Amino acid sequence: MKLFADTAIISEIEEVSTWGIISGVTTNPSLIAKSGISLTDAIQKIVNLIDGPISAEVQEGNATDMVEEAKIYAKMHKNIVIKIPMTLEGVKAVKQLSTFGIKTNVTLVFSTSQALMAATAGATYVSPFMGRIDDLTGRDDAGFELVKAVKDMFKTYGFKTQIIAASIRHNNHVDQAMKAGADIATIPFKVLNDMVKHELTDRGLKIFREASQNK
Ligand code: E4P
Repeated sequence: MKLFADTAIISEIEEVSTWGIISGVTTNPSLIAKSGISLTDAIQKIVNLIDGPISAEVQEGNATDMVEEAKIYAKMHKNIVIKIPMTLEGVKAVKQLSTFGIKTNVTLVFSTSQALMAATAGATYVSPFMGRIDDLTGRDDAGFELVKAVKDMFKTYGFKTQIIAASIRHNNHVDQAMKAGADIATIPFKVLNDMVKHELTDRGLKIFREASQNK
């Protein structure tokens, strides 16, 4: 499973770019607003930090407008992936963009039916939202079930569309995404930092440090 950073904050992307294990970045209008810079400014900075798929989300609207906006971002860099919301107009836009060879990431996906429509339209990626469906259902495994069901459906019907597990809130979601067979997990900066930590690792390091000092 590949690891993407789910942020538009440049300092966070600068930091994770030094780790050498982050293969892409996803943004959305909320993350862009949080970054304090425009989407185009963010894209221009991010493409120089991470050499991989960079998702830029168009403004939700009719297919024609979303396709026109998508073309602007796609021209900016070869790694740009256009994020399209899961609506009927979005499905039409994905179909058109796929004929132009522009990669797409269909976002706000919460059901296998939505994932089926997106993949049939030719989406490069679909983004099922784990955290938000857990929030809605009050369960801690609804997100896992969603990602697993989409993965099984894609395997059954031979879709090449890749799954980006999104809306990740904690390390357990990362574990669930792996177990469900997601191709990618897009992970917030805080969770990425949490992933490296474990209580027993800290305990072991303390013992080793003490042993080294007593040589
Ligand atoms: C992917 O980039 C999604 O937009 C993102 O993971 C959504 O996360 P949230 O549900 O915490 O807003």
